[in-house]
Amino acid sequence: MGKTIAVLPGDGIGPEVTSGAVRVLETLSQKYGHNFSFVKGNIGGSGYEAEGHPLPESTLSICKKSDAILLGAVGGPKYDTLPAHLRPEKGLLAIRKELELFANLRPVTAFDALLDASPLKRERVTDVDFIIVRELTGGLYFGEPSERRGDVAVDTLVYSEQEIERIVDKAFQLAKTRKQKVTSVDKANVLESSKLWREIVEKVAQKYPEVTLEHVLVDAAAMKLITEPASFDVIVTENMFGDILSDEASVLTGSLGMLPSASLREDKLGLYEPAHGSAPDIAGQNKANPLATIMSAALLLRNSFDLHEEASVIERAVTDTLNSGYHTADLSVNGSNAKRVGTQEMVDQVIKHMAKYMPSSISK
Ligand code: NAD
Ligand code: IPM
Ligand code: MN
Repeated sequence: MGKTIAVLPGDGIGPEVTSGAVRVLETLSQKYGHNFSFVKGNIGGSGYEAEGHPLPESTLSICKKSDAILLGAVGGPKYDTLPAHLRPEKGLLAIRKELELFANLRPVTAFDALLDASPLKRERVTDVDFIIVRELTGGLYFGEPSERRGDVAVDTLVYSEQEIERIVDKAFQLAKTRKQKVTSVDKANVLESSKLWREIVEKVAQKYPEVTLEHVLVDAAAMKLITEPASFDVIVTENMFGDILSDEASVLTGSLGMLPSASLREDKLGLYEPAHGSAPDIAGQNKANPLATIMSAALLLRNSFDLHEEASVIERAVTDTLNSGYHTADLSVNGSNAKRVGTQEMVDQVIKHMAKYMPSSISK
């Protein structure tokens, strides 16, 4: 199948991890006889440097013409003093908003090989397999006004019924295909927007009688993610709560470098990126963990292209690579078969482990 993938490497470790994921996708494209083509675009600080804007028009136009988007990460200390509208992060928020990518899925899976890599006890992270469904185009990130007024600053947390309903519905749809449980996270004991959120969740839940629903306040949810993480299936929440809880949840997997994400809308176009940032502290040193981005590429194949077999080739190869002891420096893996490698070598291992699951000659 001929498909175009927009590749937006961004800043910091972004180029290192996206080039790894592109190598993985190229391997699959070749082995399965797909015709993937990759078109590069600038975003974030590199967009500002090359074209004067963190989301150049040219990039947006490449993305609109593509079937899926693979993104690295944006941001870095050298851009922190730019005016707000030129900051790299604004480019990321703008692409999410422009393309109406309202549903951000962040799967949190504890791999067997990494059960001792988390600071939590092994028995606590065993069986962790949940997904955070984060609302991505509303809430505090986009509410108006958002401004400085002398010695006062204001941000606005606003949600419409329709914005809540579409993300909550997505969460219930997903739960139907999984363990049939939705945990809705809000702050309904204080915030008006959360009271509305809870009302809409109750309404949507009526369409899914087979799915169990629980409401948890965000502060308690932060605690429960650590004390009983295996009890979750689908967590649905607003934009900023989802941002914070997903970094917390990544600790269960052993590293922020293990958390992929898919940002989806109603049709098949999706944007796929690791949940982590540009990690300026390790950029350019071949130290970054490429697995979050590689697993994001698997989500791309599954969600945008319906290539389920190819996606599972990636996922199985990642599991096998970790089971063989290979890991990057962010993962605390010990034991007799532990092999610490750099970004590129980790990608090489994933590609090597993919071989046994792929057809040896072109089949389609
Ligand atoms: P970060 O996620 O970049 O890094 C946090 C810590 O995790 C760092 O110690 C980093 O080295 C480590 N880490 C992250 N990803 C890793 C990986 N793949 N392999 C190994 N270690 C990894 O968050 P930060 O330091 O708070 O932010 C740095 C910059 O990234 C900021 O400019 C921020 O705005 C931006 N950011 C961008 C995104 C994105 O593009 N989606 C997400 C978060 C932060
Ligand atoms: C993420 C990031 C972004 C967010 C920033 C960089 C705007 O933290 O993708 O999780 O807050 O959404
Ligand atoms: Mn974040």
